[in-house]
Amino acid sequence: MENVELQKIKQRFGIIGNAPELSRAIDIAVQVAPTDLSVLITGESGVGKEVFPQIIHQFSSRKHGSYIAVNCGAIPEGTIDSELFGHEKGSFTGAYEGRKGYFEVANSGTIFLDEVAELPLSTQVRLLRVLETGEFLKVGSSNVVKSNVRVIAATNVNVQHVIQEGRFREDLFYRLNTVPIDIPPLRDRKEDINLLFRKFSVDFAEKNRMPAISLSDEAMNILANYRWPGNIRQLKNITEQISIIESKREITGEILRNYLPDYYESKLPAVYDTVDRKTFATEREILYKILFDMKNDVNDLKKLVFEIMQHGPAASEVQEGHASVIQKLYQDAQPVIPEEKIVRKFEIIKPQPENIQDTQEIFEESLSLADKEMELIIKALEKHHGKRKNAAGELGISERTLYRKIKEYNIEE
Ligand SMILES: Nc1ncnc2c1ncn2[C@@H]1O[C@H](COP(=O)(O)OP(=O)(O)OP(=O)(O)O)[C@@H](O)[C@H]1O
Ligand SMILES: [Mg+2]
Repeated sequence: MENVELQKIKQRFGIIGNAPELSRAIDIAVQVAPTDLSVLITGESGVGKEVFPQIIHQFSSRKHGSYIAVNCGAIPEGTIDSELFGHEKGSFTGAYEGRKGYFEVANSGTIFLDEVAELPLSTQVRLLRVLETGEFLKVGSSNVVKSNVRVIAATNVNVQHVIQEGRFREDLFYRLNTVPIDIPPLRDRKEDINLLFRKFSVDFAEKNRMPAISLSDEAMNILANYRWPGNIRQLKNITEQISIIESKREITGEILRNYLPDYYESKLPAVYDTVDRKTFATEREILYKILFDMKNDVNDLKKLVFEIMQHGPAASEVQEGHASVIQKLYQDAQPVIPEEKIVRKFEIIKPQPENIQDTQEIFEESLSLADKEMELIIKALEKHHGKRKNAAGELGISERTLYRKIKEYNIEE
């Protein structure tokens, strides 16, 4: 087909896009139009199948006849035969009058059976008969009706699957599929994505009298590489949603991502990025909390020290007034046992590698200052093999203080 003619058709039927597969599909539709052959249009949901039966009808000698589009998936199973083929008066409860079906009404015209795979098996038998003989029976009648109808069907399901599952007759499939037209998904027509976006945003802006949205380079790139499970319908919906919701007219990648379902699942690095930032935020919060608690503890301690300096450690006001502070500061300490009954020992423990693996126990660490101090003294003494001078040096205290603390904590050497 001449390119000029192709562009005219696209313009007439509102088809946007220059992908060669799309042009080829239009070409096949125009070529097959003057014949009476059945055509089956396949392709994922939202790829733009619905315009093809119209092209075929308009380019055929039937264009002055009727064009009836039937959504087979939307008609209840109980009434579909009657809708397609009509019924006689009194043929079932409630059939007070006779009725012409679409096949009779569309005589010398075209019927488009959309979502054809949804037809019940019994209806498939009737359809096969009308395709093969041009004849059918109304529901509840034995009189043969003749009709000259061109049938075009469409489906977004994998017909081979439905045949294997026994839900679609194979003979009907071959009869419908005389000429197949497959419309490619949007992800295989990347070059058309930006074109379609611009068309939808400008159309929407004009209709609603607002400035059209545009995309940053990053957003354009995201749009081009998205999976588009809902194809052109999804692209159109998203463009309209963004046009309404966003107040800014220049759409960045960050904004766009919010409108693309599953975007994060298909782009893992983006997920890690947000997780990292989150972890960092909570870590910072925890650190702030620790600093805040420490500051409070220090203030409490200052108060306590001040009171002790004024009244002496034994003063009852000090003990009563600060009982809660002392309890809070030493809440992790062991229950009080008379000091003289506790004897602490230290010994040099040799590492025993063979035992390491099967003796993994987790001890809850004490956070009491007294416990920590004692622990450090014991460690220092162990390290310096009991030499107090060296241990005191390491601990940064005088030998005398160390001596006093060994007595205080009852550490046995
Ligand atoms: N090439 C195109 N240019 C402009 N608009 C398009 C194009 N293809 C599809 N559209 C628009 O996208 C929407 C979906 O198209 P259509 O209804 O034909 O999808 P479909 O293939 O029939 O999907 P389904 O199988 O779900 O019925 C419609 O609004 C249609 O106008
Ligand atoms: Mg459709």
